[in-house]
Amino acid sequence: MKIAILTGAGVSAESGLGTFRDVGGLWTQYDLNEVATPEGFARNPALVHDFYNARRANCASAAPNAAHQALAVLAASTHEVTLITQNVDDLHARAGSPKVIHMHGQLMRALCADCDARWNAPEVMSPQDDCPACGASATRPDVVWFGEIPYHMDEIAHAVATADLFVAIGTSAEVYPAAGLVELAQGQTLEINLEPSARANAFDDHRFGPATQVVPAWVAEMC
Ligand code: APR
Ligand code: ZN
Repeated sequence: MKIAILTGAGVSAESGLGTFRDVGGLWTQYDLNEVATPEGFARNPALVHDFYNARRANCASAAPNAAHQALAVLAASTHEVTLITQNVDDLHARAGSPKVIHMHGQLMRALCADCDARWNAPEVMSPQDDCPACGASATRPDVVWFGEIPYHMDEIAHAVATADLFVAIGTSAEVYPAAGLVELAQGQTLEINLEPSARANAFDDHRFGPATQVVPAWVAEMC
C-alpha cells in the first residue's frame, strides 16, 4: 500500500521538544513575527539565531520516541511510505526513517541568503558567520519562515494525491499548505492526534491519544 504521512510538532512532543500552539507552546513564549519571519530576521538576526541555537541544542539533546521509531519500522515494511514532516528537528532520521521530506526545512542545516548554499549548521550560529561558499555574512538557519514557500511541494502533492492512505500525525492543521494536503488525498485519510485538529472533519478516520501510544499500535496493525 502507498502511504503518505504528514507529521507535525505533536510527534516530537513526547521527546521533550515543544509544540507551537499548545499550552506553553513556542508561540506562547515568543513572538513568531520576531523569530520566524524574514522581516524579523532582517530586524534582529542575533535574536533569531539565538532562538534557533536554543532549539538546535534542545533537538541535539532529545531522543526519538516510540512514534518516530514506529514510523521507521513502517518505512522498512512492504508498504511504500512517503514521510513528510513540518518539523525541523531530525528525530525521524535519527529513528531510522530512510527518507524524510522536510517541508519547513531543518534546524541542523544552514543556508546562505546570498548564494543559496546549504551546509550542516554548527551548534551555534551568529550573524557574523560567513558563508563557506561565497564568504557573505548572510547565513541563516535553513528553515522556512512564515511568508516563505515550503520546500518540495510538487513532490509532496504528488505523494499525497497518489497515496492509498494519507495519515496526518501530531499537527493542529492550522498552517497552510500543510493543512490543505488532506484535500489532495484521493485515498483513505486518517488523523492521529492528541485531539481533533482544525481539519478533523476532512478526515475519514481518527485516532486520538499520545503519539507514542497511538502510532505504534497503528503501525502494528499495518505491518
Ligand atoms: N501526541 C499526539 N499529538 C500531540 C501530542 C502528543 N503527545 N502533543 C501535542 N499534540 C498535538 C496537539 O494536539 C496539536 O494539535 O500536536 C499538535 C501540535 O500543533 P502545533 O503546535 O500547531 O504544531 P504544528 O501543527 O506542527 O504546527 C505547524 O506551524 O509554526 C509553524 O512551522 C511551524 O511546522 C510548524 C507549523
Ligand atoms: Zn553564500
